[in-house]
Amino acid sequence: MNVPAHIAIIMDGNGRWAKERGQIRLKGHQAGMEALHDIVKACSDMGVQVLTVYAFSTENWKRPAEEVSGIFSLLVRYVAKELKELNENNVRIRLLGDIRPLPDAARKAVLEAVDDTADNTGLVFNIAINYGGRAEIVRAAKQLAQQAAEGQLDPENITEDLFAEQLYTADLPDPDLIIRTGGELRLSNFLTWQSAYSEIYVTDTYWPDFTPEKLTEAIESFNSRDRRFGGIKA
Ligand code: IPE
Ligand code: IPE
Ligand code: MG
Repeated sequence: MNVPAHIAIIMDGNGRWAKERGQIRLKGHQAGMEALHDIVKACSDMGVQVLTVYAFSTENWKRPAEEVSGIFSLLVRYVAKELKELNENNVRIRLLGDIRPLPDAARKAVLEAVDDTADNTGLVFNIAINYGGRAEIVRAAKQLAQQAAEGQLDPENITEDLFAEQLYTADLPDPDLIIRTGGELRLSNFLTWQSAYSEIYVTDTYWPDFTPEKLTEAIESFNSRDRRFGGIKA
């Protein structure tokens, strides 16, 4: 099996998973955290270079305050519970998104996770929190405009590579495979720039039920694709 260098996942379906069980939505998010544990381990074991997961979008603030604060509490718990094992597995955590608006405890927890794993050389584990693809592109444009305004950059010299360097994913390869659980056929503002040539795999499985075996099925599907990148078959 040819393992993609960069796998990105839209972890969707937690709410519906809980509803089917007559539980509150937060129980679904809790179960989702457990699924995440197994998927991170599987990616690390398989030698995936980069795993990016969508944990909270810039649009998810629209949800009831109780659900939002519950998700951030779970994030604190996730770091407390997983940090030791992530270090043992040589996993390096990076953040995608603007974490400034997060509750203090959540912001501190994720910054600690980044700091504590900064020297690890194995799987790069990107967690997208308060992330939106459009917001990321606007941020990149602002950074370049600022450099131009200060006379440090000639707009003529802006290239796709230079632009990509301003994104949260600077220095990382674009996702080869984007997996969406929960069955929706959309990207919901995830990796808008980086997904230009990603292969997309959607499964009806809700995120809490997504297992390493199902990840293998997604990778097998990826391996059957003919990635032409605009060219023609060799
Ligand atoms: C994804 O699951 C998790 C987040 C967006 C934080 P949902 O909570 O969107 O689950 P559904 O789509 O309502 O089932
Ligand atoms: C995408 O799921 C965001 C995350 C998984 C964090 P949503 O549930 O927010 O997406 P929509 O609203 O169905 O597009
Ligand atoms: Mg959803």
